[in-house]
Amino acid sequence: MEFSYGTAGTPTIRNLEDAWSKLSGAAGTVLSPSGLGATALALFATTKSGDDILVTDSVYRPTRNFCSGMLSRYGVKTRYYSPGIGSRIEDLIKPETSTIFLESPGSQSFEIQDVPAIVKVARDRGIKTIIDNTWATPLFFRAHEHGVDISVEAGTKYLGGHSDILLGLASANEATWPALRATYDAMAMLPGADDCILALRGLRTMHLRVKEAEARGLAVARWLRSRPEVSRVLHPALPDFPGHEIWKRDFSGSTGLFSVILQPQYGAQDVARMLDQMRIFGLGFSWGGFESLVIPFNCKDYRTATQWEPEGAGLRFQIGLEDMEDIMADLADGLGRLARSSAPKDVATCA
Ligand SMILES: Cc1ncc(COP(=O)(O)O)c(C=O)c1O
Repeated sequence: MEFSYGTAGTPTIRNLEDAWSKLSGAAGTVLSPSGLGATALALFATTKSGDDILVTDSVYRPTRNFCSGMLSRYGVKTRYYSPGIGSRIEDLIKPETSTIFLESPGSQSFEIQDVPAIVKVARDRGIKTIIDNTWATPLFFRAHEHGVDISVEAGTKYLGGHSDILLGLASANEATWPALRATYDAMAMLPGADDCILALRGLRTMHLRVKEAEARGLAVARWLRSRPEVSRVLHPALPDFPGHEIWKRDFSGSTGLFSVILQPQYGAQDVARMLDQMRIFGLGFSWGGFESLVIPFNCKDYRTATQWEPEGAGLRFQIGLEDMEDIMADLADGLGRLARSSAPKDVATCA
């Protein structure tokens, strides 16, 4: 009997698992009620008490909290590495290292990792690799073809696509699939049928939406690069971005999420004045949906293996599906407010 008890799966869940495995080129996929949940499943599947794991310093912050918090309580030690480490990760390997966790591009800061170089080091030593592939999706980065053992996706973002579900997917290659499935079966933390149906519906248009996100993201990123208020644009598909050559080698596209570093003269109050009056862009953490969003960010507070010392304030943009002219006008007005708010004030003079 294929379906005996709900926690072991339902036809709806199986549909989505199978579709994602096909799309990702994976041996199998498990689902979770959130992207962070899928990350936790992947890490529980590859670790045991006494292990050491290496996690990129550019990782999504709640993943860092899970590793340094929950995993440490179960006797798994986490060390963070520079996202640009490449094959030099070899120097960090210990006999008890069981897992290397990657995220490329990095959360908020967008560093591109040399995935093949890291995977080669891991494979030669029997170490498992996990990647958070949410930004690129399997359409733009073929994690398993690059040798990654488990690829995690927050379906909350581009798969759902409409900012109305939370969902996670973790897909594994043949060698890692039994451990991932056993972990999922032991926990019985599965999403509800309604969310899976919305994800299956999202799957039918995801290829169009990510291509549109790519075109819009690039158009806005290029425009922002030309603006005097902006010091740098952190977008892997821009030729002057430090990780661009690796991105071009390994990825087949980019999506609609990227960051900028503003010129140093703009402080927190200037940024607040810019953001508080945005009409199209909302303030919001999630992304991959239909609406445009922006958040101020600063990685300085939590990085441990690398220093985050940009010359100015950071803003992360998610470009949505609103009218492009409205998006650009909102940004132009916002940058205008930013520039005006820090313009030199007239100095009162005594006659
Ligand atoms: C890169 C990345 N991975 C994972 C997640 C977690 O997804 P969820 O919100 O579904 O837990 C997020 C959410 O923002 C994310 O940005």
